[in-house]
Amino acid sequence: MKVAVITGASSGIGRSAAVQIARRGAGVILTYSSNRPGAEEAVAEIEKSGGSAVALRLDVGDTAAFPAFRDAVVDALRDTWQRDTFDHLVNNAGFGQMAMFEDTTEELFDTFTRVLLKGPYFLTQTLLPLIADGGSVVNTTSNSALVSGVEAGYSAYATMKGGLTVLTRYMAKEFSARGIRVNSVAPGTTRTRIGDDAFEKFPELVTQLGSHHALGRIGEPDDVGMVVAMLLSEESRWITAQNVEVAGGQNL
Ligand SMILES: NC(=O)c1ccc[n+]([C@@H]2O[C@H](COP(=O)([O-])OP(=O)(O)OC[C@H]3O[C@@H](n4cnc5c(N)ncnc54)[C@H](OP(=O)(O)O)[C@@H]3O)[C@@H](O)[C@H]2O)c1
Repeated sequence: MKVAVITGASSGIGRSAAVQIARRGAGVILTYSSNRPGAEEAVAEIEKSGGSAVALRLDVGDTAAFPAFRDAVVDALRDTWQRDTFDHLVNNAGFGQMAMFEDTTEELFDTFTRVLLKGPYFLTQTLLPLIADGGSVVNTTSNSALVSGVEAGYSAYATMKGGLTVLTRYMAKEFSARGIRVNSVAPGTTRTRIGDDAFEKFPELVTQLGSHHALGRIGEPDDVGMVVAMLLSEESRWITAQNVEVAGGQNL
């Protein structure tokens, strides 16, 4: 049985990806940071459909904790799937916060760097020896780093996502020696808990932003989660080093 590790799967895109990947028959190690109930619900949803999943806590902004996380992954692989490697890694955990260029503090910039760029870089470095040859990686970037998603207030956030897009290409180049493919998904506006649950707090945003999408609405987590699962799967075996925008024609 294939096994996937998905970061930031206690809600939103990561949680959808976890469920979609499990639906295609893989075991899932999913991570949460503060929302343990969300992670437990995701595990329950996967188990209800006959799949297997384990939830682990991980702060992707804390590289010092990565060796202990790797050990926890090794334990989960052995205890749950009798494996010593896994096949798919999804670097998805992240947060968004709006700040105009003039108002962006060094502290916020550093937190974006740690969570959105340095975290995926060194987490992947830590876990790479556990990824089986022929495996695949998907990083969650953002169309804020593409022309279609440019909005005032996201200069620092989008800069990190642009960096992750470039990193995706370099990972694809170097990991190809082991047959490991690396791609990224660049979601557009997607109704998740991002931005302190902004879509729940300000439902008018959903309609207002939806009108800027060719397909007439903003994205739902499954719109993106399904693409993550597809990029990891055998159907995508000839796709590597790509950044796939998943945004329903935002600003088209
Ligand atoms: N929604 C959008 O419009 C949109 C657009 C483009 C890109 N994205 C990207 O999509 C990814 C998923 O976000 P989402 O929209 O699904 O938002 P979400 O519902 O808020 O989910 C974010 C996930 O990341 C986890 N997370 C946040 N900070 C973390 C940290 N320091 N360490 C470990 N985990 C952390 C959260 O864990 P806890 O809640 O358990 O703390 C949660 O599981 C992010 O990388 C985001 O930048 C989102």
